[in-house]
Amino acid sequence: MKVLVKDLIRVYRLGNVEVQALRGLNMDVKEGEMVSVIGPSGSGKTTLLNIVGGLDQATAGYVQVGDVTVTALQPSQLVDFRRKHVGHIFQTLNLIPTLTTAENVELPMIAMGASRRFRHERVKQLLEIVGLTERANHKPDEISGGEQQRVAMSAALANDAPVLLADEPTGELDTVNAKIVVDYLVKVNKELGKTIIMVTHDPNVARAADRILKIEDGLIKSALTPAQIVKEEAAVSYVDQLRARIVDIDAQLVKLDEAFKTGKINGDEYVERRQNLKQTRTSLDEELHRMGVVT
Ligand SMILES: Nc1ncnc2c1ncn2[C@@H]1O[C@H](COP(=O)(O)OP(=O)(O)O)[C@@H](O)[C@H]1O
Ligand SMILES: [Mg+2]
Repeated sequence: MKVLVKDLIRVYRLGNVEVQALRGLNMDVKEGEMVSVIGPSGSGKTTLLNIVGGLDQATAGYVQVGDVTVTALQPSQLVDFRRKHVGHIFQTLNLIPTLTTAENVELPMIAMGASRRFRHERVKQLLEIVGLTERANHKPDEISGGEQQRVAMSAALANDAPVLLADEPTGELDTVNAKIVVDYLVKVNKELGKTIIMVTHDPNVARAADRILKIEDGLIKSALTPAQIVKEEAAVSYVDQLRARIVDIDAQLVKLDEAFKTGKINGDEYVERRQNLKQTRTSLDEELHRMGVVT
């Protein structure tokens, strides 16, 4: 099921203050595609997902999920839309602590009015999909954070919605568990054909998708392939290396001054070594400037 977002605007009003969370955002996700939306904190990621998922309403603009024009729905219709069309996974591991894994997955199906037999069959299938059959009778505090997020994922799949929305699904996980969760999302996308929009601030997580959209100040600024984002990341770490060398040279300069002042080296040696260090520092600065980094 495709997702189409056109000129989406969301303004929040806090007393007299207006916050423009989305400023005319456009996005086009194809049926069966897995897309990451990457951007810094406060760029509008959650707002976007909540509007697409029918949890929040747009100020202006157009959102279509499959054949449904979400932006035209009344609040009562949005409830039905959420139930049938989307599964939502949140950053916080929001399982009910007193229920087992199986019960947490079963819960949304009780709300849907499914029969007990159907529910139990489906819970079995869903736990198998996320590799948690062995954890069916464990409570959330008896399993890892990564496993908890996989329980949340199977609960989000319970209604068999064609679109899965994941808001920072790895936000509270370590790198190893983050990778496992993302691998399962990719599996769900490929094997079950779910359209997935995953929001994250982590390039390593984002690159698992078919396409990566960069969001900034409430707008999609560019689209990247996984290979491009890996390259960008490499560029970032090169910048970090340059910065680290500058810090190192500055420390050497301080030491050199000290050595001269305390008479450990003579004036000639001081001037020569100082010049060399300064020259290296200038070329590192220039390299950073070439890479678009303002120092
Ligand atoms: N309910 C709200 N009331 C007021 N401002 C909000 C609300 N939700 C989000 N915002 C503001 O909208 C902007 C985008 O927020 P959000 O979508 O949560 O960003 P992200 O998920 O990328 O961190 C931020 O400036 C945030 O403070
Ligand atoms: Mg957010």
